[in-house]
Amino acid sequence: MTLVLLKLLTATSNCYTATSNVLVFISSSLSSPAKTKFLPSLSRFSVKCSCFFTQTRPRIASNKPTMNLLNRLGFGSARAPENNDSSIPQGPDDDIPAPGQQFAQFGAGCFWGVELAFQRIPGVSKTEVGYSQGFLHNPTYEDVCSGTSNHSEVVRIHYDPKACSYETLLDLFWARHDPTTLNRQGNDVGTQYRSGIYYYTPEQEKAAKESLEQRQKQLNRKIVTEILPAKKFYRAEEYHQQYLEKGGRFGFKQSAAKGCNDPIRCYG
Ligand SMILES: *[C@@H]1O[C@H](CO)[C@@H](O)[C@H](O)[C@H]1NC(C)=O
Ligand SMILES: *[C@@H]1O[C@H](CO)[C@@H](O)[C@H](O)[C@H]1NC(C)=O
Repeated sequence: MTLVLLKLLTATSNCYTATSNVLVFISSSLSSPAKTKFLPSLSRFSVKCSCFFTQTRPRIASNKPTMNLLNRLGFGSARAPENNDSSIPQGPDDDIPAPGQQFAQFGAGCFWGVELAFQRIPGVSKTEVGYSQGFLHNPTYEDVCSGTSNHSEVVRIHYDPKACSYETLLDLFWARHDPTTLNRQGNDVGTQYRSGIYYYTPEQEKAAKESLEQRQKQLNRKIVTEILPAKKFYRAEEYHQQYLEKGGRFGFKQSAAKGCNDPIRCYG
């Protein structure tokens, strides 16, 4: 195990002299041999990268009894029927990007690795992971992982269209995951791992649909990616943000340097 770790660590060392060829890393990051090597025990769990680590989440234990009581009484819980009004979560993302910036939003499986891939793109000024496309307002990670809220794990990208085209983001999106597996990326199974492009403008919608057609020509199986308007974006809990860059579960930081093409260990 230690040897494997050392190898993986030395493999990351070229990142800080980044090249400009952003997409080179893709083929090596598509499959997950590093993940399997890194965490052999994971194969025992036929789950969700993110949900598997739920126990590492900082908990606000003192909230629990109150919440349970409130839930039983029908108050307080996001799942209480009166809070299950989907008009807000199904409404548009009405956040405003900073001047000169645009939003793009993608779902391509566990959001940790997807976010890091987009962080490395020149012209991307900021990334955020979150939940979208579901019907619960203010969902928590547990809500999303329960599979009942129909949220997707998404990455919202802030980019400067003068420095990075939407097509560049689309190219990374297609290369980064398998768009032919419904509600699934590898071992991660569930509606929150569905493949989706969530557009903000008619131009993005058009480009997304065209790129899907192009990508379909290169694949034998049918693409199941959904292309829908971006809905309300619920920023995920802070510990999920830039999770892999910060070191993931084991504290091994992964470079977010622009142009870095090191393989991404999606479990940290
Ligand atoms: C919430 O509403 C959706 C439809 O909008 C429904 O499918 C789901 O079962 C509801 N969940 C609860 C817990 O009421
Ligand atoms: C979940 O959301 C997707 C759109 O993102 C929709 O196509 C699907 O029907 C929804 N599923 C349920 C059970 O509401």
